[in-house]
Amino acid sequence: MTRSPNVTIFADKAAACRSLAAELAKLIRETNATGRSVVLGLATGSTPIPLYQELIRLHSEEGLSFSQVITFNLDEYLGLERQHPESYWTFMHRQLFDHVDIPAENIHIPSGTVGDVAAHCAEYEAAIEAAGGIDFQLLGIGRTGHIGFNEPGSPRDSRTRRIELDPVTREDAAPAFGGLDKVPTHAITMGCGTILAARRIGLLAFGAHKAAIVREAIEGPVTDQVSASFLQDHPDACFYLDRAAAGQL
Ligand code: GLP
Repeated sequence: MTRSPNVTIFADKAAACRSLAAELAKLIRETNATGRSVVLGLATGSTPIPLYQELIRLHSEEGLSFSQVITFNLDEYLGLERQHPESYWTFMHRQLFDHVDIPAENIHIPSGTVGDVAAHCAEYEAAIEAAGGIDFQLLGIGRTGHIGFNEPGSPRDSRTRRIELDPVTREDAAPAFGGLDKVPTHAITMGCGTILAARRIGLLAFGAHKAAIVREAIEGPVTDQVSASFLQDHPDACFYLDRAAAGQL
C-alpha cells in the first residue's frame, strides 16, 4: 500500500488558485517575518496562470511583497533564447515577474542556450542548495505524467539535467510553436529527486483532459513511467484539482 498524497477538490480552477495563492502569501509573510527569504519552485504551462494572476493581485492590492522571495523554475527548452516568445523565461516574466517586486537576481530559470549543459545543471542544483532548499514546489502535470519535463523513465533520484522530450509532449506544445517541427527536441529540467527534496509540493491540475493521468498519479502504482506518481511517497505533497480533473478518482 502506498501512502496517498493529500487531495483537495475545488469547485473550479479559480477557487483552487485563490486557495493556493493565499497559502503561498501566508508562507511568504510568515517566513519573511522571521528574517528569512522564501524559496519557491515555479512551473510554467497554462495551468498556473490564474495562480500567478492572483499573486499579482495580492501584490498590487494587498501589499504582498516578493522582495524576499527566491525562485527556481522547473525547466526550459534547449535551443531557445530568453527572448523567444515560447521560452519559459519569457513566460515567467510576462505572467508573473514583470508585475511584482521580485529582485532580478532572485530569479533562477535554466538557460536554454548554455554551452556546457552539465556544468550549468550542476550549478543550478548548487544554487538551490545554497538558497537553503525549496520551501514550496509548484507543479503542473503533462499528458505523459511528467512533472517539470521528467518524461517516462526518469529515475526517482534524478537531478537537474538535459532530457529528450517525449513525442506526446512535443505534440501538445506544437500549436503554441506553430508546428511540430518548431518544437525543441530537448530541455533542461530539474530532476524528480530535485523536486522531491522540496519541503512542500503542490500539484495543480484542471480539466477533464487531465483526469486519466491524475488518477494514475494518485491511485496508480509508483513508477518512473509516471513521474508524478513519486509524489505518493512525499511527506507533504498536495494535489489541487477542479472537479473535472478529479473526475476519475
Ligand atoms: C509543460 C511543462 C510542465 C506543465 C505541462 C502541462 O510540459 N513543462 O511543467 O505541467 O506542460 O501544461 P499545461 O498546464 O498547459 O497543461
